[in-house]
Amino acid sequence: MKFIIVAAVALVAVAAALPVEEPVEIVNSVFEQQADGGYKYAFGQSDGVKREETGVVKEAFDEDNKPHNVVVVRGSYSYINPNGQEELINYTADEEGFHPEGSSIPVAPVARR
Ligand SMILES: *[C@@H]1O[C@H](CO)[C@@H](O)[C@H](O)[C@H]1NC(C)=O
Repeated sequence: MKFIIVAAVALVAVAAALPVEEPVEIVNSVFEQQADGGYKYAFGQSDGVKREETGVVKEAFDEDNKPHNVVVVRGSYSYINPNGQEELINYTADEEGFHPEGSSIPVAPVARR
């Protein structure tokens, strides 16, 4: 009996010492879908995370010069880093690939010939 009480007190002490994590909530959210496949969405969270993105359909040409539709994506996301500062990343994604840009992303040196 004594052991059970000691164990229960220890458990309560451990639970009290744990930091209380506030559940993250979505504080705003929009989504618009266009008939052609384009779209726009954005959301914000109570922990400071934000994201927005638009997709626009455009015609591109493959290696055989055949036309096809691609969705060109442009957006950004931001979050609060462990130092309490906001990190913002802008990005685009198109037929050439994914291109992120932000102060926390290292820039590759320019190749010299
Ligand atoms: C991201 O885009 C915004 C708006 O276009 C611009 O003001 C900002 O300087 C850009 N930031 C980075 C890190 O590319």
